[in-house]
Parts: sequence; structure tokens; C-alpha cells
Amino acid sequence: MKKGLFITFEGGDGSGKSTQISILRDRLSEAGCDVLLTREPGGTKISEKIRSVILDKENSEMEAVTEALLYAAARAQLVAEVIEPAIRKGRVVICDRFVDSSIAYQAYGRDLGEAVEVINSYAIGECMPDITILLKLDPHVGRRRINARDGDRDRIELASEHFHDKVYEGYLELEKKHSQRIIGIEADRTIEETAELIWEKISPMLGE
Ligand code: TYD
Repeated sequence: MKKGLFITFEGGDGSGKSTQISILRDRLSEAGCDVLLTREPGGTKISEKIRSVILDKENSEMEAVTEALLYAAARAQLVAEVIEPAIRKGRVVICDRFVDSSIAYQAYGRDLGEAVEVINSYAIGECMPDITILLKLDPHVGRRRINARDGDRDRIELASEHFHDKVYEGYLELEKKHSQRIIGIEADRTIEETAELIWEKISPMLGE
């Protein structure tokens, strides 16, 4: 059976994930890979509907547990409908955020602790990334970048500075705990330098 490659990107809000993801997608396509790009929360019809409920800033009364379950529900659908079938076909899947986001934002940021892992292991089963790129940027710098952008802030972006500090701490803990899978890259360098560091990690995994 063919097996593809499952790559995820993680990082705080404003860490530059989208730019790096699109550069990596182009490089992989140029290298002849059949790439599928998706994002969380979202990526399927049902998951996009859940996304709009989660991020709607009108939903200020949402309980932390509700939030965690909704992210996991969106993820379960994405795994079953998109990610697993693509990997079975030998495709390279890049997902903008995955389960580590729930650990950082809900377990650490919202103080839900280990329950988040339990919920998510039920949602994703064995479907874990082969490699995770964590873009590390001081959350205060990330926040300044978000504030400088045009457009409305979503419910999570509007959460307190203290919340985003805890999220970042969560990511650093995850990087230590899963040092084989999670590759932390300081994201305060130029776009090209960061892209090069990412490519150095990913390219040896192609065709493995
Ligand atoms: P999005 O607009 O996709 O943000 P970004 O461009 O930073 O990825 O919004 C997703 C938001 O949801 C983001 O603030 C992180 C948060 N999030 C969680 O809190 N838990 C999760 O499990 C996931 C996937 C995202």
C-alpha cells in the first residue's frame, strides 16, 4: 500500500504560517509531489460550518469545553473525509494547524489539561502527523502583527494577552515532549531564511 506524508504547521496567531505553507506547497509541487493543502478548523463542508460557530465573536458565552469539543468534531470530519483518504493514495498532505493547536490553545490556553488529549485521540485515532513545523514567535510580536492587519478579529484573536502567553508556553512544552516529530523554528528571521530551514527538514522525508 502506498503511504503519503502528513505535514502539519503550528504556531501562535501572527507567526507567519500561511506564507510559509504556501512557499512549501509550491516547492513540493515543483519537486513532483501530489500535494493536498487543508486547514483547521475547516477543510470540509461540515468542518467549515463548525469553524464559523467557533470563531464567531458573537459567541462570547461559549464554554471552554464546548470550544474543545467543537475543534475535535471539526477535526474528526476532516481526518475521515480528507486527510486519511489522501494519505492512503500516497499524497503529501499539508494541514494548517492540527491536534497540537488544541493542546496549546485549549489544554494550556483554556486550562482544560489532559481532557483535551482524550477527546482528540477519539477524534483522530491513529492519524498523527509525520512531521510538525512549529513557527516560534514571541506572542507579543505576533499580536502586534495581527493588530496591524486590516479586518475584524475573530473570537480567539480577541482573547487576552495572558491567554496567548499560555498558548505559547504550551507549544514550547509540546516541542520538548515530542522532539522527534515537532521541529521548532524561530520565525523572527526573513521569509526566505525560514522557508529554507523548513525545506531542509522536509525534503529528506520525500520518497521515504
Ligand atoms: P485562523 O483564522 O485559521 O487562524 P490562523 O491563521 O492563526 O491559523 O483561526 C483559527 C483559530 O483557532 C486560531 O486562533 C487558533 C485557534 N485554534 C484553537 O484554538 N484550537 C484548535 O484546535 C485549532 C485548530 C485552532
